[in-house]
Amino acid sequence: MKIVVLTGAGMSVESGLSTFRGGGGLWDNYPVEQVATPEGFAANPSLVLEFYNKRRKELQGKKPNKGHELLASLEKEHEVIVVTQNVDDLHERAGSTNIIHLHGELMKACSSRNPNDLRQVRTLPSHSAEIIIGDKADDGSQLRPYIVWFGEAVPLMDDAVLALRNVDVFVIIGTSLNVYPAAGLLNYVPAKVPVFLIDPNDVEVRGVRGVTVIRKGASDGVEELIEKYLKHL
Ligand code: APR
Repeated sequence: MKIVVLTGAGMSVESGLSTFRGGGGLWDNYPVEQVATPEGFAANPSLVLEFYNKRRKELQGKKPNKGHELLASLEKEHEVIVVTQNVDDLHERAGSTNIIHLHGELMKACSSRNPNDLRQVRTLPSHSAEIIIGDKADDGSQLRPYIVWFGEAVPLMDDAVLALRNVDVFVIIGTSLNVYPAAGLLNYVPAKVPVFLIDPNDVEVRGVRGVTVIRKGASDGVEELIEKYLKHL
């Protein structure tokens, strides 16, 4: 079967990373417009670089959880494409091999003049690697985090829509479906394709279609998805 999985911050909660919304979320502690917009970066690049340097370092001590690992193990028998809103590298480290990072990657840096020029995108050597003022991209511009900020285009959305071609099962894990265009991916899933949503809390799914809700955390939820559903599809 071809399985496409849309993951969000909740996927990494059991690995010790915080979500964005809901109690104690990242956006409770940091003003989005200052650390996650191009205007914020232009106004105070050091603050933004430090914010992502801190998140990258925080990621260093974290490990993939059972949910990441179970998704990776599905590749033994199925074609699995992970479309993630997360910028962490936990899906990679769990062994998933077909990942589309809609909102960028914490372990990469790009040109601030042309963030979407892939020739300028470089992988940082380690989780402790920092980007500081004065670090330059090959085009001479200030290096910036390879993150899609609010108000910026989501260049990989087309790839995510293409990934849905001939999909057999669509799974949503750990996202409040608040942010577009990522949340709109569900609208491209053909009506006959079963959709599962794994989240310990209620998530409003816009649009009218049947969604099977597994009201659990990512690890237990993916386990139930496999045992109770995928094995019988
Ligand atoms: N397992 C699964 N899901 C969980 C868990 C868990 N253990 N704990 C919480 N969740 C769920 C929450 O109930 C919520 O629905 O994870 C979801 C997290 O939602 P958000 O914090 O809004 O994160 P996300 O949907 O990924 O945000 C999307 O917003 O700020 C931008 O770019 C940022 O990629 C991010 C985007």
